[in-house]
Amino acid sequence: MAVLEELRTDVLVVGSGIAGLTAALAASERARVLVVTKADLAAGATARAQGGIAGAVDPADSPAAHARDTLAAGAGLGDPEAVQVLCEGGPAAIESLLDRGVEFDRTDSGALALGLEGAHDRPRILHAGGDATGAAIEAALVAAVRRAASAGDGRITLTERTALVDLLVEGGVVVGAELMAGDGTRRRVRAGATVLATGGAGQLYAHTTTPEVSTGDGIAAAWRAGAALEDLEFYQFHPTALAVPGPLSSFLVSEAVRGEGALLRDEHGHRFLPAIDPRAELAPRDVVARAIAQVMAAQHGRPVLLDATGIGADRLRTRFPTIDAAVRRAGIDWSREPVPVTPAAHYWMGGIRTDLEGRTTLPGLFAAGECARSGVHGANRLASNSLLEGAVLGERTGAAAAAGAAEVPVVAIAPAPMTASPSAASTVGPPAATGRDWTRAALQELMWELVGPLRSGDGLAEAAARLAEWHSPDPDRLTTPEELEDRSLLDLARLLTAHALARPGSVGAHHRLDDPAADHPVTARPAADHPDRSLV
Ligand code: SIN
Repeated sequence: MAVLEELRTDVLVVGSGIAGLTAALAASERARVLVVTKADLAAGATARAQGGIAGAVDPADSPAAHARDTLAAGAGLGDPEAVQVLCEGGPAAIESLLDRGVEFDRTDSGALALGLEGAHDRPRILHAGGDATGAAIEAALVAAVRRAASAGDGRITLTERTALVDLLVEGGVVVGAELMAGDGTRRRVRAGATVLATGGAGQLYAHTTTPEVSTGDGIAAAWRAGAALEDLEFYQFHPTALAVPGPLSSFLVSEAVRGEGALLRDEHGHRFLPAIDPRAELAPRDVVARAIAQVMAAQHGRPVLLDATGIGADRLRTRFPTIDAAVRRAGIDWSREPVPVTPAAHYWMGGIRTDLEGRTTLPGLFAAGECARSGVHGANRLASNSLLEGAVLGERTGAAAAAGAAEVPVVAIAPAPMTASPSAASTVGPPAATGRDWTRAALQELMWELVGPLRSGDGLAEAAARLAEWHSPDPDRLTTPEELEDRSLLDLARLLTAHALARPGSVGAHHRLDDPAADHPVTARPAADHPDRSLV
């Protein structure tokens, strides 16, 4: 496999959701930045975020109250200092999004409209276009980076349809990355600082609300380079994804719908949450998702029902235009009949261990957003804190990466734009002979069945054994971005399963049927117990 060309930049940002673009814009204030993303800029999970972005902007609210809710939802494993940084940074981050042109919804009096979601003690969720908050934020950030890129001063250079192969490490320092364009050609970028903002890996699971690009490439590459990962056992399952066959399968039905009063019922029409948690449908997400999974198990896998009929057709259409259209496309008039829903993989609390400025355990490498584990979420993320995390920690990480890059002796020149065939990925030649003895679909089913919302020691051990048997491809023989993704997914499936096996107690999103005690004493696992390094 030939590597065609070597490019140089001060800061390389891999990924283009809210964390990546915010980091790029922050870094570009004092460094030259190359943004690389494997599909189109807006193809990631950010643009799918519905409910909104949490922030203590109401005069009656406070970052301290937001932090209390965040820590409580995190089931005792959130880092109080990280949570404080997140919540105190909320109002400024929202101000900055307003400055960038995000039109958050407002009340009739012109105040910012605030929605309610699970485990928040008050309405605190800003939204745009009703339920299209992520799309509005992503559009504003994409416009800002495209404007900067088109200025042609080298401050920001954008490269789409180019995937991460691996990080370049010299003497224990990350000095850039090897990339693959859609036609399979590889290039190296040397960078003073490399920021991973590559999102989560919902594609590990057969049911997920995340887009196809969510394959965890950055987390896997960081692990292969030797960076510490943490909390991988905590994968958040969103309680309410549409349970219909076809293209709308696992379409997200926002928690904000329950914030407006929708109720969850079993297949016989009985509400089951009040008996489990006094907050019922607005209990923390892990509680609601687990309860649904248990009810579904008892009704032989059939979905539960989200009853939004009390909200009214007009309100459903105006407050949730995206969901309204999708549900109706699925043939359901949700103002009159309940919507079948199921939990689906949604967000990874674990990831690359970072400090509060995105520094990983490897010099030269930073991470922000869902691929990072900064301590803000603990064992279960509070609803609508993910966009906030991308904004607050993306900004801090971009600034720190630019400062860090200035300290590294890299000759910075404006990189030539790399072009890749827009038809990209899927069309290039026959797959290389990678010795593949498994499929992505098989991996996703295995993870859903054995490493999903309800786990057991036996099931996890079986998953680990089966994953260990599957062939890890030779990295030099991978010729398409899909093959790179599959390599990431296999690495991460093994790691997630190993982390889940290493935590015998149920806590937050990690629920073991062989330890069902919801109040199991929670302790952070000592770093020495982390299983990352023993695998793959
Ligand atoms: C939702 O709208 O329910 C998802 C919001 C989130 O993931 O925080």
